[in-house]
Amino acid sequence: MTSSSVSQAKPKLPPGSLGLPFIGERPRLLDTAHMLKVYQQYGGLVKTRVLGRNVAIFMGHEANRFLLATGMHFFLWRDGWPPTFKELLGESLFVQDGEDHRQKRKLLMPAFHRQSLRNYLGTMEAIACRYLQKWEQRGALAWLDEFKQFTFEIASTLLAGSAPGDDTERLSRLFVELTRGFITVPVRWSWTPYGRALRARDALLAYIDRAIEARRANPTEDALSLLVHTRDEDGIALTNRELRAQMLLMLFAGHETSASMLTSLALFLKQHPDVLAKARAEQDALRLGDTLTMDDIRAMTYLDQVLKETERLHPPVPAGFRGVTETFEYNGYTVPKGWIALYLINVAHRDPAIYRDPLRFDPDRFSPARDESSVPFSLVGFGGGARVCLGYAFAQLEMKVMLSYLLRYYDWELEPKQDLRFIYLPTLLPRGGLRVRFWRR
Ligand code: HEM
Repeated sequence: MTSSSVSQAKPKLPPGSLGLPFIGERPRLLDTAHMLKVYQQYGGLVKTRVLGRNVAIFMGHEANRFLLATGMHFFLWRDGWPPTFKELLGESLFVQDGEDHRQKRKLLMPAFHRQSLRNYLGTMEAIACRYLQKWEQRGALAWLDEFKQFTFEIASTLLAGSAPGDDTERLSRLFVELTRGFITVPVRWSWTPYGRALRARDALLAYIDRAIEARRANPTEDALSLLVHTRDEDGIALTNRELRAQMLLMLFAGHETSASMLTSLALFLKQHPDVLAKARAEQDALRLGDTLTMDDIRAMTYLDQVLKETERLHPPVPAGFRGVTETFEYNGYTVPKGWIALYLINVAHRDPAIYRDPLRFDPDRFSPARDESSVPFSLVGFGGGARVCLGYAFAQLEMKVMLSYLLRYYDWELEPKQDLRFIYLPTLLPRGGLRVRFWRR
């Protein structure tokens, strides 16, 4: 593999077409079997044109490494997102780069350190148990929507300082309005979806502002309390304006992704009774007490394998987008400044050169004996490199807490005649919402 700033007189663009569809229109980018063939035929870099923009598509573990690590200086996150995104989410990590990003990420990190996660554990457990009891009483549910509420309640309680109950429902409704704004035409009249998204954003920001003031006056154990008081080595803190934008981003980045993965987990576990039995056996062997400790969570190593396998086969996020800031060469091809670049997460995850029988759901591939993910950047469901998902440990913790109680005390059955196909909307979701019958074992 080669990569450097451009040196050629006559640039050789990556294979593909900027005219008639070669790799296909946008939907084919999400057709992993097709893109895997393109990868095997042309290598880790091809080009296409989507919505009037030239796009360089990076695929496979080596190309992932380039875009996410060794060549990351050729890319900007800020230019990878549409303008609506910046307006709706404000100046937050997703649209920050360079020193600005490094400094802000460092200021946010304490909310995701081990000690903070330890503080969140009890709240996560309480929320998980409340939802499980509610589901038991209902007996039948569309699980995707329930998981969305669950992960939203966790994120809004621990990260944005909301109180359980009414606040969560109202905030969650506002959030649905806000996210609709990302995929609409930005016409800002009050009755248009975009106008409503802007109003929802303002209401959410007003809410977060009040929470920030309250935490300044009376700190609690949540992330917001920690962040209003965090200073870097130069004594610099996040301003209220910065903090509110970052909190809004956390709510956005942190709840639908985790809900998507929990939904896939619930399906995979039911479709693979041997895996379900093994995951339950691990919970039983741990002889867990009335409440979980971080040591218990760490000891759930088979569950870690199940989570990794779910991340591999059903990554909630399909791709990461960047703007190209400087013309560069990769593998003998030139990628010009001003193009969009993206890396396709699913291609490396299903590469038969790395994963044996890649379409099979097989958590044992991540056992210490096999460890098929030892090739760097071959498992990138949470991104990779210096900008790997900030909420990785938070998401793992909330999912493991939910799964530990679910495996020990509950059982479920898939309702017949439902559409179990998953599509990216924009995270990976089952078309039919995953309807199940649910009971206490
Ligand atoms: C299963 C759950 C999650 C998945 C699959 C996921 C996935 C990802 C991915 C793929 C990226 C990198 C995108 C890219 O390279 O373009 C990312 C970044 C990020 N995620 Fe997550 N995420 C999850 C949960 C969370 C949670 C719970 C939070 C916050 C509480 C969060 C906050 C972030 C942030 C702030 C970034 C940007 C980091 C930076 O720019 O430095 N994520 N996530």
